[in-house]
Amino acid sequence: MSATAGDIAFTKLGGVMAIAVEGLDLHHAPDAELAKTLRRALLDNLVLCIRGQSIGPGAYLATIATFGEPLVRPEIPHVSGYPAVTTLSSDDRDTKGDGKRLIAGSHWHSDDTFMAKPCSLTCLYGIEVPDTGGDTEFANMYAAYEALPPAERRHLDTLRVVHMMKPASRAVGRTRTIAPELLAARPPVVHPLVRTHPETGRKALYISRNRMDHIVDMEIAAGHQLIDDLVAHATQPQFCYRHKWRRGDIVIWDDRCTMHKANGDYPEGARRFMNRIIVAGDAPY
Ligand code: OGA
Ligand code: MN
Repeated sequence: MSATAGDIAFTKLGGVMAIAVEGLDLHHAPDAELAKTLRRALLDNLVLCIRGQSIGPGAYLATIATFGEPLVRPEIPHVSGYPAVTTLSSDDRDTKGDGKRLIAGSHWHSDDTFMAKPCSLTCLYGIEVPDTGGDTEFANMYAAYEALPPAERRHLDTLRVVHMMKPASRAVGRTRTIAPELLAARPPVVHPLVRTHPETGRKALYISRNRMDHIVDMEIAAGHQLIDDLVAHATQPQFCYRHKWRRGDIVIWDDRCTMHKANGDYPEGARRFMNRIIVAGDAPY
């Protein structure tokens, strides 16, 4: 048995992006028609929130597999028996040893841009969410690109950027500890600063500041300044949506045309527990 498009209702969440769908029970994975409807909603709205789920990792994985191929990321802890379903928890700590929380993704970014083929989608399932704080913010990178003056867009269209898991040229704050052999297996990659979405054909700024080592053929500091200026531009309120989590939300976003940011502002002692799946993507062009 599959979940079907019969009883679902969509509600726009933000002015510039994001839509919620209610009435789905993902104990059964979406059938082909529903999967198509959900994909269309995601492509048109960049962020799709499926409300009200209470499913296990197997059903979650089966649903996300209708969007594409789930990827395994060995450096992130995962649900026992499900290597592609990783966990994001308020109990996560880094190795600085001061007991402070590790808030993964607390700077504006797109996921896994240090890969030659970064993930296309990221999915978070809010199993426990704090009453206050812990929102996830999103920026619409199509809209940010389209709002730039034509001459600037033409210039940005020509630029290429070297991305690295741990950029040599930046201090990036608290991060997960990565085994040296994993780092060594991930050489720098080059991506365009403006990418064309392979499914919509639209252009978007493609930025993940803390993974961007330098802009090719540009002086390092000037490249960093340009990236910071573009982040400031793209994260103006008119391009952004802030997701306030409800327990049971599955939020899926398109990393090819958005940036996002975690907020670690929930009270000490409050629980936030997410199951995360990323979906395979193509080399940006
Ligand atoms: C991520 C991420 C944001 C959050 O999972 O890639 O950035 O709010 N998460 O937890
Ligand atoms: Mn992220």
